[in-house]
Amino acid sequence: MKDTYGREISYLRLSVTELCNLRCRYCMPAEGVCKKEHDEMLTEEEIVLAVETAAELGVTKLRITGGEPLVKKNIVSICERTAAVPGIREVCITTNGTRLPELARPLREAGVRRLNISLDTLSEEKYRYITRIGSLNQAIDGIEAALDAGYDKIKLNAVLIGGFNDDEIAPLAGLTRRWPVDVRFIELMPMYDSGDFGPEAFIPCERVLQALPELEKESPDGGVARLYRLPGAQGRIGLISPLSSHFCAACNRIRLTADGKLKPCLHGKAEFSIKGLDRDGMREQFRTAMLSKPEWHGELSYQNRSQAGRNMNTIGG
Ligand code: GTP
Ligand code: 5AD
Ligand code: SF4
Repeated sequence: MKDTYGREISYLRLSVTELCNLRCRYCMPAEGVCKKEHDEMLTEEEIVLAVETAAELGVTKLRITGGEPLVKKNIVSICERTAAVPGIREVCITTNGTRLPELARPLREAGVRRLNISLDTLSEEKYRYITRIGSLNQAIDGIEAALDAGYDKIKLNAVLIGGFNDDEIAPLAGLTRRWPVDVRFIELMPMYDSGDFGPEAFIPCERVLQALPELEKESPDGGVARLYRLPGAQGRIGLISPLSSHFCAACNRIRLTADGKLKPCLHGKAEFSIKGLDRDGMREQFRTAMLSKPEWHGELSYQNRSQAGRNMNTIGG
């Protein structure tokens, strides 16, 4: 259905857990997550009912997020069941990749078509720093497992952070020559208490264009990234600029958190609970949430933090 600004809402981002096997500095605090009670979280049945309800209202694309969705015990079953919902044309996952060596194949067989995998650096030491506990090799093994499993599309997400990986723009972009993947640079978004990044960390995606003058412009594909290509590369380079050039006018998204809150906007306070509701109750809340989508999320910068009141791991990006 359309929201009050005429935007067709066709894309549901579904977070299935707040938990993660990493602790990325821009996403969650060092001590990790304060685990919520089991009965506060959506059950698998509620998730499937919510996706059915969303599909009845015009949602065709589902992206499963977290936390880290692949640490959820029943992730394969959730993917299989939601991919079978009439009206859902595409189920995609955003993951840190570390569990893909075991799960890339079962998830592909369950009907997942596309994967977005986080990779902020190619240095083992810096990977350990940014994720606080992760190992770069595990993430690379995950990407290679995904490439072997025959997905329609794989994108790598690098959050661009001044003083951390702005010296790695060329090697990260160069992965589009090594593998048939897109590499997207994402401007760091200032969340509730995600990390102690100073103003110098918040750099615009324009830096990528300065570092790679050979980039050739590609036509847009309807997603949130502006697209380019290195000459002769297999995949594209994407720039996602929520701070320097927000894309709210074309936003087709609604979000559902693992604790059952519909969020009309990533950076807004408004939330509508569907926990414990039946089909009719859920439909009503979906309609209300879609009609509450704001025109844009308001100024977002180092000084103007997200109004979401949650960290990224509890929203799903
Ligand atoms: P596809 O278009 O299906 O590839 O998905 P995506 O690029 O939206 O998904 P992904 O989970 O890979 O997110 C990439 C980055 O975009 C993350 O940093 C998200 O937080 C950010 N993002 C996704 N949707 C929105 C949005 O509506 N607003 C803002 N500001 N950022 C978003
Ligand atoms: N700013 C920008 N991107 C973020 N992500 C997580 N936290 C932030 C943030 N504060 C990205 C992750 C992942 C996607 C879901 O969101 O790197 O690729
Ligand atoms: Fe985990 Fe992804 Fe958040 Fe990193 S960005 S802590 S991998 S959920």
